[in-house]
Amino acid sequence: MQFHKIIKQRKSVREFKEGNLENKDIDALMEFADSVKSIEGDISTTFYFVKDGNKAYEKMVGYAGYYGMPIEGPHYLLLMSEKKNNYKINAGYMMEQVMVKAMEMEIGTCWIDILEEKRVDLKSALKIDIEGEIAAIVALGYPKTNIFGIEIPLTGRKSIEEFVYKKSWGELMSLGELSQRGLQDVFYYVRYAPSWGNIQPWKFIIDDYRLILTMHQEKEDKVLEDHDLECGIMMLYIEKMMHSQGISGKWTLNIGDIDSEEYKIPESYKVMGWFPI
Ligand SMILES: Cc1cc2nc3c(=O)[nH]c(=O)nc-3n(C[C@H](O)[C@H](O)[C@H](O)COP(=O)(O)O)c2cc1C
Repeated sequence: MQFHKIIKQRKSVREFKEGNLENKDIDALMEFADSVKSIEGDISTTFYFVKDGNKAYEKMVGYAGYYGMPIEGPHYLLLMSEKKNNYKINAGYMMEQVMVKAMEMEIGTCWIDILEEKRVDLKSALKIDIEGEIAAIVALGYPKTNIFGIEIPLTGRKSIEEFVYKKSWGELMSLGELSQRGLQDVFYYVRYAPSWGNIQPWKFIIDDYRLILTMHQEKEDKVLEDHDLECGIMMLYIEKMMHSQGISGKWTLNIGDIDSEEYKIPESYKVMGWFPI
């Protein structure tokens, strides 16, 4: 199925049917997980499937989920990652590919936040004997109520004008201008991307030849220290949508030549990368 058709039906699933996923679905999903692309080539990662969700749930209480309350799921999928530059961006980019695939297979998923200060303890609690840290967790199973084939209204999402600027921070880009550049659909659909607390921490600046992604930095928020997972998720959505519009290219995470002051980017936002347009 085309990417935009899948994501316009996506939503977080927090209530699952009792019982496990069928083995053939687990095998197909894990085979897909083994084939997903990374955004930073040299970070070693392993997807780790937790079959006994009940047991894992009890161990995760206090360590993961909003305010330490994880979602109860028949299974969980973890991404173990080497701790290197951009590893969480990479984790968001890789895990979301599996979640989109799961959606296509009519398997429901929900991201689960990991409390930063409990990340290391969580690995011991779950007795995971794989190198690296737990970079991402999602719950998965068959949804309790059918959610497939239903378009989700985009309520609760920012309008394009609120997160896409032209040339400089705060300068509005009209939908007409976006459409002239072939980008209106791209930004329409990427709004379906999930984010912690649905805060949608991304803003873009469209320059002559590149799209710059900036992410909100929450210095005071003790629950979440960065939005790198969402950054990776958004990078995936942009890339997929760009490619479907015939705009090829890939993200550059090395942003040394981008001067935040030149674009008037406020201190509360950080430049994460750019995509050629
Ligand atoms: C990094 C990340 C962490 C999240 N953590 C949780 C969580 O711990 N518990 C939860 O119920 N939802 C969690 N979510 C799901 C968001 O609440 C959800 O994506 C957002 O509210 C938008 O709703 P939607 O996914 O249905 O479109 C998380 C999402 C992301 C991207």
